[in-house]
Amino acid sequence: MGISPPFQAVVERLRSAGCVFAEDEARLIVSTARTPDEVAVMVERRAIGLPLEQVLGWAEFCGLRVAVDPGVFVPRRRTEFLVRQAVALARRGGVVVDLCCGSGALGVAVAAALGEVELHAADLDPAAVRCARRNVEPLGGHVHEGDLFAALPSALRGRIDVLLSNVPYVPTGEVGLLPAEARLHEARMALDGGADGLDVLRRVAAEAPRWLAPGGHLLVETSERQVAAAAGALSRHGLTPRIARSEELDAVVVIGARGTGTPG
Ligand SMILES: C[S@@+](CC[C@H](N)C(=O)[O-])C[C@H]1O[C@@H](n2cnc3c(N)ncnc32)[C@H](O)[C@@H]1O
Repeated sequence: MGISPPFQAVVERLRSAGCVFAEDEARLIVSTARTPDEVAVMVERRAIGLPLEQVLGWAEFCGLRVAVDPGVFVPRRRTEFLVRQAVALARRGGVVVDLCCGSGALGVAVAAALGEVELHAADLDPAAVRCARRNVEPLGGHVHEGDLFAALPSALRGRIDVLLSNVPYVPTGEVGLLPAEARLHEARMALDGGADGLDVLRRVAAEAPRWLAPGGHLLVETSERQVAAAAGALSRHGLTPRIARSEELDAVVVIGARGTGTPG
């Protein structure tokens, strides 16, 4: 069977707008849209530079299809490494919290890998919270809105086995250097980590020991350049840091373990 003219027209429009993978993207758009009108709308949104995942309304993450709404951070491939590390530390039936959850992709992927967990996710951005609810609630998880730990029910204090937190970690001065897709179509608060990129991470590290269960772990993604300072922030607050790297995914994760004593 040949490729239909509308498909070729879609490819041409995407190519002329500068999409390098025009054929692949056209295929995804055509198979996602429910009507020819929807195809046209999606193609134009992509042509003006929206991230493909926001145009489609979903992203593939850890082999799952995760809903992604306009303005919400698109889960990155490299962050699958953070999920893998979390899955290795979590146990069935344990308490998993995805703080700074965006679409909720990380918690959903951990829950899907483990089968059964008590899953909570939280974000400050109402658009992210709405999106995360669509991904997390069908799995029986809970999504909370608010500033870091203030969003969480106090009953979770001292009970979290695995705390994933892909905080914003781009230094303020470098946000302007990001690709336009991120800079223009993802919320600033999803990207900007303050002067050295570690402001949010330091706040998470400071409070995490009181929320983790004895023997629980905090996992944060960072960059090679920031990894020493990130590990230092965890260790300053009584967590024992370990660094994990994936060359394949160009990913760096700091894992902080809470001891079994009372946090200081
Ligand atoms: C880098 S994005 C990560 C999103 C998601 N975890 C992922 O990896 O796809 C950071 C997220 O942190 C959220 N955020 C930023 N500051 C926050 C705060 N003070 N409290 C809660 N969430 C915050 C942003 O809204 C954004 O969704």
